[in-house]
Amino acid sequence: MVSQFSCAGIELDLYRYPKQQESNLQAWDAADEHLIKHIVENDITVKKTAIINDSFGALQCALIKREPTWPLFVETDAKTSLLGAKQNLEDNHLAQTNISHFNSRDLLPTDTQLVLIKLPKNLTYFAHQLQRLSQVLPAGTQVLIGAKAKSINKSLLAIIEQNLGPASASLTWKKTRVISCVTDGKLRKSLVQVTWPVEHLNLTISNLSNVFAANKLDIGARIMLDNMPKGEFNTVIDLGCGNGILGLRAAQLYNNANIHFVDDSEMAVASSQHNWEVNQLPTELGHFHWDDCLTHLDEEISADLVLCNPPFHQGEAITDHIAWQMFLDARRRLAPGGLLQVVGNRHLSYHIKLQRIFKNCKTVASNGKFVILQARK
Ligand SMILES: C[S@@+](CC[C@H](N)C(=O)[O-])C[C@H]1O[C@@H](n2cnc3c(N)ncnc32)[C@H](O)[C@@H]1O
Repeated sequence: MVSQFSCAGIELDLYRYPKQQESNLQAWDAADEHLIKHIVENDITVKKTAIINDSFGALQCALIKREPTWPLFVETDAKTSLLGAKQNLEDNHLAQTNISHFNSRDLLPTDTQLVLIKLPKNLTYFAHQLQRLSQVLPAGTQVLIGAKAKSINKSLLAIIEQNLGPASASLTWKKTRVISCVTDGKLRKSLVQVTWPVEHLNLTISNLSNVFAANKLDIGARIMLDNMPKGEFNTVIDLGCGNGILGLRAAQLYNNANIHFVDDSEMAVASSQHNWEVNQLPTELGHFHWDDCLTHLDEEISADLVLCNPPFHQGEAITDHIAWQMFLDARRRLAPGGLLQVVGNRHLSYHIKLQRIFKNCKTVASNGKFVILQARK
C-alpha cells in the first residue's frame, strides 16, 4: 500500500484508520490531490476554511503542512474519518490547535470563507450538505468540490446550483475535476428525514440523509428479521446499526434486554436513537455509540448476542476488511457461549471468516442471494 502523499510540493505519510487493517487501500485519492493542487496553483492563502468529507485527513494535513495556523472547520459523519485524520495529523507532527470538529447535523460557522468538499457517493446526503451550507454562507463564498470526472455531469451541477449557487467544472486531471461554486446567498430548507412504516413489525423507521437503506428495508435486513435467533438474551449489540432496525426488533423480541447500537455514521446512530424513542421503547435499555466497530465500547459491556449486517464497501472502495474487524471485535465482546448472527450476500463467503475466527459456523437460513450465519464463542 502506498502511504507517501506527494503533491504540489507537499509531502505526507498517510494511512487509513485503523492503521493496521486487512486491506491495501490508500488513505487519499486523486481528487484530494487535485483540490490541493488547485489551492497551491491559485495561490489561495490562509483563511477560515471548512473541509467536508475528508476521508482520512489528507486535505487537513496538506493545508496545515502548508501553513500551521490555517483555521479549519472539519465536518464529517464518519468516526473512522475523524479518527483517521487525528492519527495522520499526529503521525506527521502537525498541529491540531486550529481545527474545530462538526458532525453532519451541525451548522458550520457563518464566518467560513472557503469550503472544500469531497463529493460523497450518496447524492441525497450531498444535497443536504449543500442546503446546510446555504443556511450559513454569505453570497460570494467560494466552494470547491473535488470528484472523479466520471461522477460529474449536468445533473450534478444542477444539484449544486439548486442547493447553493452556480457551478462549473475544471479540466480533467488524473481522471478528476474540481467544481467551483460561488454561493448565491439564498437560504434553502434542509431535507427532512425520510420516514416509513414496517407494518408487519409495527415499527416506524426514519433515516437521516447519510443512513444506509434510505427509504425501505434492506433485503439483507429483511431476511435477518425473518430469522432472528430464538432464546433469551440480556445484552445485544446491533453492530453497524444503520437506522437500528435489527436492534429495534431485538428489543421487541427479548424482554428487558439492553440493546447497544453502534455505527461509524453519526447520522446512523442519531437515527437509531430517534427510532428507539419514536417506537416508545424503554429509555434505560437503549444505548447508542458512534464508533469504529467496537473499538471504544466500554470494556464492561459483554454481549450474549451480536447482530450484524456488515458493509462491503468504504466510500468508493469495495472491501471486506470492515466485516473482518466486526467479526473479530464481536468475538472479543461476546461472553463465553455468546452468539454472533450475520447476514450477507452469499458470494461474500463470510462463513470462511467466521470459521477461522470462531472455529465454528452454522448456516441458519438462506435464499438465492443471502445467507444467515451463526458463530458461537
Ligand atoms: C449493510 S449496512 C447495515 C445497516 C442495518 N444494520 C441494516 O441491516 O439495515 C452496514 C452499516 O455498517 C456501518 N459501518 C460501516 N463501517 C463501519 C465501522 N467501521 N464501524 C461501525 N459501523 C460501520 C455503515 O454505516 C452501515 O450503517
